[in-house]
Amino acid sequence: MSNTRGNWQSNLGFLLAAIGSAIGLGNVWRFSYMAHEHGGGAFLVPYLVALLLAGLPIMLVEYGVGHLEKASSPLSFRRIGNHYEWLGWWMPVVAMFGIMLYYAVIIGWCVNYFFLSASLGWGLDPQSFFFNDFLKITDSADNLGTFRMPILLATAFVWFLCWLICFRDVSHGIERASKVFMPTLFVLTLIMVGWTLTLEGATDAVLNNYLSADWSRINIFAHDPALRSQAIKTWVAAFGQIFFTLSLGFGIMITYASYLPEKTNIGQNALITCVVNCAYSLIAGLAVFGIVGFMAQSQGVLFEDAIKGGPQLAFVVYPKAISLLPSLNAIFGMMFFLILVIAGLTSGVSLIEAFTCSCTDKFDWPRKKVVTGICVLGFMGSLIFTTQGGLYVLDIVDHFITNYGLVVGGLVECLLVGWVLKTVVLRKHFAKSGSKIPIIWDICVKYITPSLLIILVYFAVKVDSAENYGGYSFDQLLLFGGGAMLACLALALLLALAPWDPERLKRRHQPEEDDLLV
Ligand code: ALA
Repeated sequence: MSNTRGNWQSNLGFLLAAIGSAIGLGNVWRFSYMAHEHGGGAFLVPYLVALLLAGLPIMLVEYGVGHLEKASSPLSFRRIGNHYEWLGWWMPVVAMFGIMLYYAVIIGWCVNYFFLSASLGWGLDPQSFFFNDFLKITDSADNLGTFRMPILLATAFVWFLCWLICFRDVSHGIERASKVFMPTLFVLTLIMVGWTLTLEGATDAVLNNYLSADWSRINIFAHDPALRSQAIKTWVAAFGQIFFTLSLGFGIMITYASYLPEKTNIGQNALITCVVNCAYSLIAGLAVFGIVGFMAQSQGVLFEDAIKGGPQLAFVVYPKAISLLPSLNAIFGMMFFLILVIAGLTSGVSLIEAFTCSCTDKFDWPRKKVVTGICVLGFMGSLIFTTQGGLYVLDIVDHFITNYGLVVGGLVECLLVGWVLKTVVLRKHFAKSGSKIPIIWDICVKYITPSLLIILVYFAVKVDSAENYGGYSFDQLLLFGGGAMLACLALALLLALAPWDPERLKRRHQPEEDDLLV
């Protein structure tokens, strides 16, 4: 065996890396625009329900499986049963090729905007700048146009940084980087939130638009079909967001937990990861809603007219607000985009790590070569998103991968652990390694979480089949959304077909016979 598996140097190092994976672009702006689109404070209800009924139970599943098997998801699933390996590949393949390819490009946009902030280079009309000067966007997803050099170069830089961090083993690479990046991120975020809340109009916006609720947006029993359909979309979005934000269904947390020492409090680690991640989102939301409130007040427009969804929140609304600040605009802007870059990088490296570890576990290839190969391939795959029409492709791929790819990964994990491996095996393992998990977790993993996820996928399919997502044509959705899913599936199946060294398949533990009868 040429590779020895890495280990975290300390539990704190592990926690910072896991929280770093969880806190990403999804927390800073995805969460805020979701909250706005789906009823402000009312969105917090499905979000918290999703956290308790899916997020936390699946986090425990991922930490538990990774720690028990000391393996990435393909090897862990293969040990659970021969037929399940491809499902174990599905998750890191989706992370790497479904998400990281465009995630790196968004971090690349942030790198560009970090430098633009120094001179408020977006000018007087940030919306026109973003679409016409920065993206030079084409008129439809059918026309990808040419590469955008500033985006392409920044994306190459992002892949280079990820390579630099992932190249060495986890304790010398990801752990060290997380120990610097995460405290920096927390301090910068607190400064930004504090600063934002001193701006005029900020606290009013927080109270009236963020912390107040439009309850009709979550009532799935509403008589009005339009309201009902809207409420369903809200619940689907909340579950999708929990998976995305907690990095669940990617195979990341399985991999990260596999590097933990024998004695470790898995329950406590899972709880801390979930609480810190969600608290970070809620706190970052104060800054986002606050700055939009300030901007609305400065321009004398309504909050609803000032805020925008999707990438426009970070790349149109924020720049506009930064330009309006009474002083220190450049510093504020650079700080905001630096926060996005740091949050993005610590998540990006985890997306790469899940796939890297899966490959080294299976093929025993040298880690450094695997990381180099993956980063070169990844950069090449990112190129499509650096074109003028890249934003359309990104939007479609993100929609399908987040709403289906990750949720399906989570569902599969619950079914495998709940019904094949048996939760009792994991619960005993938790106890042996130092944490006591209440019985409600078993009930969630076996019944509640999978049922909810099945209902969710059903509704997601229903909503998507009733109307074309985002107004794209059926062909475009099929090509980019269906194409991305099919490509991930084909790669997962292919990787699962390769033979194993039988030594690697040997379990470190044997479930006791009575466990398997439960
Ligand atoms: N968990 C990461 C994020 O929220 C992927 O961006």
